[in-house]
Amino acid sequence: MKYVKLGNTGIKISQVVIGSTNMGWRINEQASHEVLDKAVELGVNAIDTANIYGKWGEDGYPGRSEDIIGNWLKKSEIREDIVLATKLFGEMSENVNDRGLSRKHIHKALKGSMKRLQTDFVDIYFTHTFDAETPVEETMRAFTALIEQGKIHYIGASNHPAWRIMEALWVSDKYGLERYEVLQPVYNIAKRHTYEQDLVPLVEKYKLGVTSYSPLGTGFLTGRYGKDMLPETPRVDGVKRRYFKDRNFEILKTLKKIAKEKDATMAQIAISWVVHQESVTAPILGANTIEQLEENVGALEIKLKKDDLQQLDEASDWKTLDELSR
Ligand SMILES: NC(=O)c1ccc[n+]([C@@H]2O[C@H](COP(=O)([O-])OP(=O)(O)OC[C@H]3O[C@@H](n4cnc5c(N)ncnc54)[C@H](OP(=O)(O)O)[C@@H]3O)[C@@H](O)[C@H]2O)c1
Repeated sequence: MKYVKLGNTGIKISQVVIGSTNMGWRINEQASHEVLDKAVELGVNAIDTANIYGKWGEDGYPGRSEDIIGNWLKKSEIREDIVLATKLFGEMSENVNDRGLSRKHIHKALKGSMKRLQTDFVDIYFTHTFDAETPVEETMRAFTALIEQGKIHYIGASNHPAWRIMEALWVSDKYGLERYEVLQPVYNIAKRHTYEQDLVPLVEKYKLGVTSYSPLGTGFLTGRYGKDMLPETPRVDGVKRRYFKDRNFEILKTLKKIAKEKDATMAQIAISWVVHQESVTAPILGANTIEQLEENVGALEIKLKKDDLQQLDEASDWKTLDELSR
């Protein structure tokens, strides 16, 4: 496993991060702990979660994934070796103030996450998305105070359009506050334009770290989906809504061809493609089993040549498409 510097920060993370949307939803606590154990064995040192994860499914509740990770951190006794990221923004209860990026909610949300994660600090605290109702200055001042108290080490922004990140960077600069150091956008070979069009120039200019999510298009790019083929998973509706477009089925054909040539799986080629993108520090993986995790981390062994990348780029090029097709 290689370790890469996270943007302009002083820390290094593994070339892939282990995600946890599925922990406490698609997979139970025991299976989640097995995946986390295996991830560490394979050299992964970074974990991504969020305070709302785990709210789906029959007995789900917001914070279930953090509870599962917290129990694992306690059991494994390797908290200090892990770069732990969590997020806030989403509704944690029906209380009107139990959401968003106000000073009040930031303090409450962090307290809740640290309790569930059984830790007294969070390495990277992400805003899950922007808060149009709270002044950015209030948010950045609250984060800065928490960084000064040592409860957070770095802050990051997920699902933000470029102008919102720019505004936050500007506010941080103007008032001498801590700034967003890491972005967490969706990014995969079937969903390129939102990240590549506006965020990549920003990432490069301001030397931001990027831990992108959904490298497999939540499963679409694994070969388990076809126009007339659907796997049994609660994620199927989301995949259909986001990825079922004629152009994306063409991308699957190219992935399949290159996977065959490399004696690899389609999932590995899709992950490898993200890893080959210079502006990305590390994609976040979403594996449900040890086997899937081994397969997905195995993508790091694959070297895509110029010609492979060109074929994949041509199949997924968004610049020639009109807005509605992207
Ligand atoms: N910031 C955000 O808003 C945001 C949003 C989404 C995710 N994330 C983070 O990013 C992580 C990864 O996102 P993601 O789950 O969307 O990632 P993904 O890698 O695009 O999709 C993961 C899904 O692909 C399927 N899968 C994974 N490995 C496979 C394999 N080897 N073979 C066949 N199928 C495989 C599984 O689908 P099934 O479960 O359907 O079987 C799994 O749930 C999350 O865990 C979370 O930490 C962040």
